Amino acid sequence: MRVLDLDTVRLSEDRSCLEILDQTLLPGTVKVLRLEKIEDIFEAIRFLRVRGAPAIGVCAGYAMALAALRIEAEDYEDFLTAFLEKKEYLAGARPTAVNLFWALDRMERTLRECADMPLPEIKERLFAEAQAIRDEDVAISRCIGEIGFSLMKPGDGILTHCNAGTLATAKYGTATAPMYVAREKGMCDFHVFCDETRPLLQGARLTAFELHDAGIDTTLICDNMASAVMQAGKVNLVFVGCDRVAANGDTANKIGTSGVAVLAKHYGIPFYVCAPTSTIDMSIQTGAQIPIEERDPSEITEMWYKERMAPEGVKVYNPAFDVTDHSLITGIITERGLCQAPYEEAFRKLGI
Ligand code: MRU
Repeated sequence: MRVLDLDTVRLSEDRSCLEILDQTLLPGTVKVLRLEKIEDIFEAIRFLRVRGAPAIGVCAGYAMALAALRIEAEDYEDFLTAFLEKKEYLAGARPTAVNLFWALDRMERTLRECADMPLPEIKERLFAEAQAIRDEDVAISRCIGEIGFSLMKPGDGILTHCNAGTLATAKYGTATAPMYVAREKGMCDFHVFCDETRPLLQGARLTAFELHDAGIDTTLICDNMASAVMQAGKVNLVFVGCDRVAANGDTANKIGTSGVAVLAKHYGIPFYVCAPTSTIDMSIQTGAQIPIEERDPSEITEMWYKERMAPEGVKVYNPAFDVTDHSLITGIITERGLCQAPYEEAFRKLGI
């Protein structure tokens, strides 16, 4: 089975649980977790068993449909109160990727639109909405892939950071979608450099894994090697994903992305952000308003090492994301089209 054919997140056939591929075990072990309780889904999101902005959104949709199934309420008001409690709880799993809140709000909207339906029917509607979020995600990634592909040409050297791949979405990924579309259309002569992506190694463990598995010519580099490969003329295009885009085009993505953007500008390399419109947050004006998750210091000092690699007691700063200034971005590829500066105007033109 190819990675591209695996489901990152899916509802079990009997609709009793959410099945996710445990991404903390990849690439060594391919294991599907069956999560029934909302607490288990919260844990899976918090600890990156499922990760990547769109996949987190899909997961949140299913999580609410499953949670709703277990709510025992006499009437709509009680049902709504219990639903909102669970929604608030799940919203605390991670702060940066806006798709989590976007999907939770979409599920709440669906529930409110069904206020005069019997509760069993409402529960069915919630499952249908969660499924729609998942199916739309596949279609959206595919569209991003087509638009991104139109920016590619034979012989390209493409650099990507973190994993905005099929593992981060329902299928295709965002930053990797143009590469998969290229392969489907028979264009094979391009090369991808994957940044390892310290500290959680999403580039090494996930992107290199899925691209290599798909037969795409892939080279893994440490994050601090990006400048050298760009300087050597081996990269002429950058595709990255994103977790939240502000109205002015500032973009939060995995820590290290802004450094790649600075380098790309220095070397005159186009830098594209691949963003489903669900990732664009028009309620915030600039990237300074995006909450940046800080994670446990042990991810830097101990994880992946045989023994601790930093002195006990040393201060550690471990932000999981950074913000790339819109001035460094050549274009933002959404499923509705390619947006270029001024971004707010471009987003509004696409009806975002
Ligand atoms: O901490 P992660 O692994 O969830 O971070 C993921 C990223 O930064 C991705 O690039 C982003 O979510 C886009 S996924 C299509």
